[in-house]
Amino acid sequence: MSRTIDLTLKVWRQGGAGDRGRFETLALSAISTDMSFLEMLDVVNEQLTRDGQEPIAFDHDCREGICGMCGAVVNGRPHGPERGTTLCQLHMRTFASGDTIAIEPFRARAFKVVKDLVVDRSALDQVIVAGGYIAVNTGGAPDANTTPIAAATAERAMDAAACIGCGACVAACPNASAMLFVGAKVSHLALLPQGRPEAARRVLAMVRTADRLGFGNCTNITECEVECPKEISIVNIARMNREFLRAAVASPEM
Ligand code: SF4
Ligand code: FES
Repeated sequence: MSRTIDLTLKVWRQGGAGDRGRFETLALSAISTDMSFLEMLDVVNEQLTRDGQEPIAFDHDCREGICGMCGAVVNGRPHGPERGTTLCQLHMRTFASGDTIAIEPFRARAFKVVKDLVVDRSALDQVIVAGGYIAVNTGGAPDANTTPIAAATAERAMDAAACIGCGACVAACPNASAMLFVGAKVSHLALLPQGRPEAARRVLAMVRTADRLGFGNCTNITECEVECPKEISIVNIARMNREFLRAAVASPEM
């Protein structure tokens, strides 16, 4: 049944990367528990705009949990308290009347704050670009069925391909490591025959680019897996490490 709740919002406000930033406290009343978290922010922004104040800047696009654009740290957890849920799919019924909700941007050396809750996650795009295209001619959709792939392997590749590139794994990691993201991207191609010809070059380039851009290393803390809204498994990090070692040993640079 629909109900309303009253909340205290502590939201991070920051003009840009050079600004120090601070928490601003807002009192909210009569927030419908049917709203999504982003709809709640929309309501707050309408009120701020009516009051002649700057609305809170936050990223979003699909609002269906598929594009990876949304994301903020809510009460210390990237994408908030619901496991396997993006911020846009989080609903206000998760909270109780009287709660205080602290909202901060994803924090990592490789993610500079653009404004308020918006961070520049283009470093993840640069890692993808470093991975490059696959050169194999895969043909049209019907041709895919002519390449026999074991169902279990296809499932593992599909699970890895579910990564939406949101960066929550980086924000969750004390090392600001992007290993879960890179592991997912390396795995979904390395598992399939179409991805094998460039697999060695791809994993070396993606891991080295992630290092160069300031992402940290993995020390098996596993917070990334806990906070990933697509529940990407850390098994993908182990697979990426195997792929990397094999490629590095065979590389003429070694
Ligand atoms: S691995 Fe998960 S948390 Fe990391 S970018 Fe992909 S979907 Fe987001
Ligand atoms: S807005 Fe697209 S995943 Fe949240």
